[in-house]
Amino acid sequence: MKRSIQHPASSIQVNLGDRSYGIIFGDSHRTIKPHLYRDACIITDKNVAKYHLRPWEELFPLAQTMILPAGEKTKSMKTMSLVYDFLAQIGFGRDHLIIALGGGVVGDIAGFAAATYMRGVEYIQIPTTLLAMVDASIGGKTGVDLTLGKNLVGAFHQPKAVLVDFNYLKTLPRREWNNGLGEIYKYALLTGEIELSQIPLQFDYRQRAFSKNYSKIVRFCAQYKAGLVSQDERDVGGIRMVLNLGHTFGHAFEAGAGFKALKHGEAVVLGLMGAVFISYKRNLLNKKTFDKIIDELSKFNIPKITRVFQFMELLTYILRDKKTASHNFRMVLLKDIGKPIVVHDIIVREFRKACGFISNTFGIETKD
Ligand SMILES: NC(=O)c1ccc[n+]([C@@H]2O[C@H](COP(=O)([O-])OP(=O)(O)OC[C@H]3O[C@@H](n4cnc5c(N)ncnc54)[C@H](O)[C@@H]3O)[C@@H](O)[C@H]2O)c1
Ligand SMILES: [Zn+2]
Repeated sequence: MKRSIQHPASSIQVNLGDRSYGIIFGDSHRTIKPHLYRDACIITDKNVAKYHLRPWEELFPLAQTMILPAGEKTKSMKTMSLVYDFLAQIGFGRDHLIIALGGGVVGDIAGFAAATYMRGVEYIQIPTTLLAMVDASIGGKTGVDLTLGKNLVGAFHQPKAVLVDFNYLKTLPRREWNNGLGEIYKYALLTGEIELSQIPLQFDYRQRAFSKNYSKIVRFCAQYKAGLVSQDERDVGGIRMVLNLGHTFGHAFEAGAGFKALKHGEAVVLGLMGAVFISYKRNLLNKKTFDKIIDELSKFNIPKITRVFQFMELLTYILRDKKTASHNFRMVLLKDIGKPIVVHDIIVREFRKACGFISNTFGIETKD
């Protein structure tokens, strides 16, 4: 049976032929018609379950729920094995729906389960973190980490819908709001359409809400990503690749910190610093723009990291990262704010200097 989830005109469309879907803003519980699916499996994590699971269990009374431990460490093959066993035990079938209720970690795991269980089943993304709303829930990249590096195992599998409901953010801890900013800075640098200085200012942490203007920023990021995915779903045409801005160093620091001390968005900010530094040193970026970006990024609150990073270890992660083509060191740099460029000839010395710059700026210790 072919099912489609209706979405209002105000939603953002990811255009992929018969795999097209909507990013639907508003009250997520009103969007899905449970009768379309005989049954569902809700995959979530402990923190999200505490606040947001019940309405989904009420909407899908027959649903079985798997609650995972929270955090990046959960994004592993070990978890996948538990998820597959769970799906088999509950008799999950191809006419059932996986509901990914959580941040990027839950989304990547549940999406990967949907991509692979019974050679592919349907799923929807319900992002509950700012980071997942602007980035992780969109575009169908799913997968898990290995201890040797981020996202090394995975699959492309598009969801049937992405439901963005800002109400989930009301329970988001402060550090997780900040974490989402990492990817928003990335979009600001890629597009030139978001004023850098506006990014951290507009949260009302007490109300756990953001201004109307900020909801426009979130929508803009989702729209921008949807556009790139629509043109280059499998990240082979060089279009989607710009989304890797900041991720070469970002993933290295994230893995180097053992997927614990640094959150993804925080690591992306370090990575953006590295990309901007190399762009400046290559005379792609002028000094004024370089200073402006660094000035803004260095205000970002990176947690104190006690661990000393070894440059050679970071380099190993960088080289293992999928973003590095086999013989060349590939990276997304900036010619200006709003003008990304992919280069294929980065040399180790540039990586080393950029690591030194990042470390000095944020007081992180790096040794040779
Ligand atoms: N697939 C993609 O295209 C893509 C893109 C960007 C990032 N990612 C991945 O996303 C992951 C990071 O996502 P994340 O930052 O959302 O992390 P996360 O899923 O670990 O969520 C962060 C923390 O917030 C908690 N949380 C989530 N929603 C909450 C809520 N509403 N209230 C209270 N607590 C809540 C979680 O339990 C967790 O402790 C990384 O693994 C990254 O690689 C994937
Ligand atoms: Zn990212």
